[in-house]
Amino acid sequence: MNKVQWSDGLLLGFEPMDKVHRDFVDLLATAQNASDAQLPGAWLAVVEHTEDHFGREDEWMRRTHFSSAENHILQHRVVLNVLRDGIGMARAGEIERVREMASELAVWFAKHTQSLDAALALHMRRQPASELVRKRHKTVHHAPAP
Ligand SMILES: [Fe+2]
Ligand SMILES: [Fe+2]
Repeated sequence: MNKVQWSDGLLLGFEPMDKVHRDFVDLLATAQNASDAQLPGAWLAVVEHTEDHFGREDEWMRRTHFSSAENHILQHRVVLNVLRDGIGMARAGEIERVREMASELAVWFAKHTQSLDAALALHMRRQPASELVRKRHKTVHHAPAP
């Protein structure tokens, strides 16, 4: 099994993306270390986070008219559909199939991050500062007022 592991080689220098990638690695690691009983819940958390992760990247690409958007968005959609199938498998007790999927996702993530996401991060870093500030605000989780 290929276990997901964070390394600084995954850092792309676009903070909102690096943050979401770190969180993804944490959640996938939790799923890969989960017991059979914990796996359905842990897998659901991976899928929900991935919906948000891909959704943000898709939105950045659309808003900034990124030239390779079509291929990147399509890849997100295909992968997310596969991961969603895993929710049903986990609930049906097909634990080994979900563990296999998690292992493939770990490999896919490293490749995707270092290719398509790296190109997107570079593009985002070249956006005007005002655009970056807008994006950063979008990812801030507002604390309740004191
Ligand atoms: Fe990503
Ligand atoms: Fe991506």
